[in-house]
Order: sequence, then C-alpha cells, then structure tokens
Amino acid sequence: MSKISKCLFPAAGYGTRFLPATKAMPKEMLPIVTKPLIQYGVEEAMQAGISDMAIVTGRGKRAIEDHFDISYELEQQIAGSDKEDLLGDTREIMSRCRFSYTRQMEMKGLGHAILTGEALIGDSPFAVVLADDYCVAEGDGVLSQMVKLYEKYQCSIVAIEEVPMEETNRYGVIAGELEAENIYRVSRMVEKPDPAEAPSNLAIIGRYILSPDIFDIIRNTPPGKNGEMQITDALQTQASQGNVIGYKFQGRRFDCGSVDGYIEASNYTYQSQCNPS
Ligand code: G1P
Repeated sequence: MSKISKCLFPAAGYGTRFLPATKAMPKEMLPIVTKPLIQYGVEEAMQAGISDMAIVTGRGKRAIEDHFDISYELEQQIAGSDKEDLLGDTREIMSRCRFSYTRQMEMKGLGHAILTGEALIGDSPFAVVLADDYCVAEGDGVLSQMVKLYEKYQCSIVAIEEVPMEETNRYGVIAGELEAENIYRVSRMVEKPDPAEAPSNLAIIGRYILSPDIFDIIRNTPPGKNGEMQITDALQTQASQGNVIGYKFQGRRFDCGSVDGYIEASNYTYQSQCNPS
C-alpha cells in the first residue's frame, strides 16, 4: 500500500487581496502572530507523517525558500540569547524535512499549479495544502485525519465544510452520497457555482489527497471556470468512477486568502497561544 510521503504546496499566486503587503512579499509569508502561513501548512503535513515538502513557487517568492534555510548571520547574531528559542520550530522542520521547489511560470489555475508539481511528486499519491486555508484542530490536524482516511479508501480525498449557500461561488462544491459519518462518496464537483446552480453547500477547502493518475487527467481536462485549468474539473473524472471521497473534517478553517478571515485567524491564534486566559 502506498504511503503519503509528499505534500505539494501551490504557492505561486499573487495575493492581490493583500496589496500592498504582498507587492514584494509572498502571501504565504504573511504571519499569523509570529509564524508565516506556509509554516503552519508544513507543520500540519509533518504531523501527518509527511517529510517531503514540494513547493510550487513563482516570481517574487524567494522568501519562502529562504525561510526554510539556514540564516547564518541571523543565527550567529542571536546565538546564546533568549531569542534562539524563537527559531526552534523552524530548525526542527529543517532537520526533519526535505524541501524541493519548482516554478509555475504562468498562472493558469490550480490544476495547472498541481500539474507543474508533477516533477517533484512522481508516481505516488500525495497531499496538497493551500496555505491560505489555515486549519486548526484539537488532536489530529486535518491532513492527519485525511491520511488516515486514505489508508482505508485508497482514492482521492477532498476536505469539505458547509458554507452559507450564498458563498458557493467562492469554492469547488460537491454532491455525493453519505457513506459514513462525515464521509461522502462524491458524484459531482462544480467549480465556483452560483448559488442557484450549486449541487449543495458542501465546499472544498484547501486540503486534498490525490492519486497520481490525476496528472494525466489534468492534462486531458479542458480549461474550465475563468478559462483556467481547474483541479475540481479533473477530480470530476475520478468522481465519475466513484474514486473521490469528500471528508467533513474535524476542526476549524480560516480563509486567510481574505482580509476578514486573516484577521479572524490572527485574533483566534493570539487568544489561544499568547493570551490563553
Ligand atoms: C481553490 C479551488 C476551489 C477550492 C478553494 C479552497 O480556489 O479552485 O475549488 O474550493 O481553492 O480554498 P481559490 O481559492 O484558489 O480561488
């Protein structure tokens, strides 16, 4: 049985909703309190037993590579001081994980970003984390929950949550049969449908487990919503064969691709980490 050992992070997007903050800085480096969004994603993947982090970057994203690298000058500067501890988590990540990078040269959609990562992933099932969906959970993280589910179902899995009907046009939306508590066998998937056309209010959030045949399927799927290569459309091919599970995860997700969600996530994390009273 294949184990999930790699996680792909599509991280080439511009983050225009956060301009001017993201003019020269990747949106994945926006901090929730003191840790950048992408680091939370990497930690979630590590908790799920994954040690290979494959990051699809783009122009202006060098800070991500620098973040997961040694900074000799800085480390020498703070060596022996109480500030050293602040780099502890990052050091731990660097000692336990392997990072690889590739660049997406044109923005042609999430499907295209994932296809760009093929060279880093190869022919095994893999996880995908969209770092701007920031997830918190008590106990197992969302990706750990999904990796466990993969052991049973051995097919692609998308994390889903209920959203207000009027927001379906912001997400991939699924329809399916309830197979067990919180687990749906997906039959239909639509990218960002208007509420009137949405098959349900079960929205896909930025956590996926994908079987590697998805790469060929993406290659053979015509552009969809907004003329972009959509992962949702490629997954529909697998769903038509009964090979996609929708999983209502345990935990809470913040949409840090929006200013409101980002502020909410920051306040929540500050309250729970720094000011727990
Ligand atoms: C992408 C996917 C969408 C999914 C969403 C989750 O959209 O295309 O299906 O629901 O991520 O965050 P984006 O937010 O990149 O527009």
